[in-house]
Amino acid sequence: MPPGASVDLLRRASPTISVGILTADLLALGGELRVLEEAGVQVLHVDVMDGCFTPAMTVGPPFIKALRTPLLKDVHLMIQEPLGKVADYVAAGADIVTVHAESSVHIHRVLQHLGTLTNANDPARGIVRGVALNPGTPLDVLDPLLDEVDLVVLLAINPGWGGQSFLASTNRRAAEVKAFIRRSGRDILLGLDGGVTRENIGAVAAIGADVIVTGSAVFDGKAAAANAAFMLAEVGRAGRPRIP
Ligand code: DX5
Ligand code: ZN
Repeated sequence: MPPGASVDLLRRASPTISVGILTADLLALGGELRVLEEAGVQVLHVDVMDGCFTPAMTVGPPFIKALRTPLLKDVHLMIQEPLGKVADYVAAGADIVTVHAESSVHIHRVLQHLGTLTNANDPARGIVRGVALNPGTPLDVLDPLLDEVDLVVLLAINPGWGGQSFLASTNRRAAEVKAFIRRSGRDILLGLDGGVTRENIGAVAAIGADVIVTGSAVFDGKAAAANAAFMLAEVGRAGRPRIP
């Protein structure tokens, strides 16, 4: 991992993929992480679900702590009321923490708090603060939050259910978020998460996001290395999204 703040590392990597680890062979996690590292993947996506914010439950801080990898740890918190919990994920080694705007009435406070925490991997790296929106959430919730985030993530599927297709409304929503970011004058990154496949990665990359999350299209149980290389090449072909 080169030195520098995580947000700068992410900006330099853009456009890139953040690979969901939960569809990997979790009984061979070390080997699966090596596959990503050797394929040139730079960001590892961990979907944390608490069974309240989403129907499913997945993993927590001990799992994240066990992930020994130089990849940036991109932790997507699909949990209710994250204020008292984000510190545990940062202590477990998260470099990027994305919370859902829908998960707390005090989401601004959650992001402020996140901004006070120290990266457990390297204090110099800082924490990338992300806010995620479900497909049904109006974009104007972003307006009061843009001073407190480094990354806006649009969910292209409804979280918590696997095997969904990338929602076409994401294209329009992405264009609107870029307009918000442009007006804010801040160098905020845009992420897209969910329903990205080998078939649509070209079209998704053309939307112009900095970070594209993809899980089952890489860890499909057959050809993770080739899938990762393919997805990276497709996203690289799109070039750095300019948010003028
Ligand atoms: C959905 C998660 C996504 C999802 C991505 O709740 O936030 O990260 O796991 O998985 P794929 O790429 O398989 O849709
Ligand atoms: Zn996710």
